[in-house]
Amino acid sequence: MKLKLLLLSFLLALPAHSARGDTPGQNFLIQCSACHAVDHKLVGPSLVEISGIYGKDPDGFLRWCMKPGKKRPDTIEMPSMAHVGEPALKEIYGYILSAAAGKTEQAVADNSAALENNRRPRVQRIFMPDASPAAIAVALPGDLSFCFDAGDCRLRYVWKGGFIDALDHYKGNGNALAKLKGDVLYREGEFPLSGGSTVSSTPKFLGYSMSEGIPIFRYLRDGVEYSEKITPLPDGSGIQREFTTKGSTALILKPAGKGAVAAASTGEGPIQTNSFTLTYRWK
Ligand code: HEC
Repeated sequence: MKLKLLLLSFLLALPAHSARGDTPGQNFLIQCSACHAVDHKLVGPSLVEISGIYGKDPDGFLRWCMKPGKKRPDTIEMPSMAHVGEPALKEIYGYILSAAAGKTEQAVADNSAALENNRRPRVQRIFMPDASPAAIAVALPGDLSFCFDAGDCRLRYVWKGGFIDALDHYKGNGNALAKLKGDVLYREGEFPLSGGSTVSSTPKFLGYSMSEGIPIFRYLRDGVEYSEKITPLPDGSGIQREFTTKGSTALILKPAGKGAVAAASTGEGPIQTNSFTLTYRWK
């Protein structure tokens, strides 16, 4: 599968969204997207199917989310979403209807692939292809995963499908590489930003912390301390990378990744803010 990367938007000067639910779709992403996709069955029915059932029945939708029943024989029982709270569920309801509008249900050929996606975000230190030995594999909610190289302190690639098959790795002598269970959508040739001290030094990994099951990586490059959080876009069509930097250095977005991050639509000037988001979308 050869897919083309489009840099649809390069959003500067956006505060990093750290609080939950401050972007449309964020609540859905965190609470529901592990099991529900827009136009095809995942673990639960698609948003197209859900808006068909509850499009005119917000109360019924709320009742189901607070206390789900058992309807479909071929899948698990949905856990109650009462902890999400009514205001957020109402926001999610609105998001579901707008995300499903104009879409039609797509068949899923192999349901086991869909069930494989019933996953919480996962973070695994493992030997990965095309990365230094200090690779970290991350399964995002939905069907995207990525490899972060803690040796070189950068995103290496993003793939779509299942997570990793680590069996060879554990069966073998510990040197075998994990196999990706999916297709690579994007490979990054080099770190996309430059700036900081002119004497470039070896990047230094400072560790990661977890936020809503998703890792936030911290690392030092050329004297600039970065933190980076990679999340899927709510509709699963790409990723966004939220960067926060320490210090007052202006950064430059490179035409990185073999031209993948081409033509930042907001022009060429240096990035003057300490928190900004790069959005990558695949068609
Ligand atoms: C762990 C997986 C999982 C999560 C997380 C999850 N669901 Fe579900 N959902 C399911 C499954 C499975 C079904 C189908 C259950 C059945 O038919 O018995 C379902 C069905 C539904 C339905 C259809 C009910 C009907 O009457 O047919 C709605 C609406 C729904 N989910 C909303 C949500 C919302 C909103 C969230 C997030 C706040 C959410 N779900 C999170 C698994 C999940």
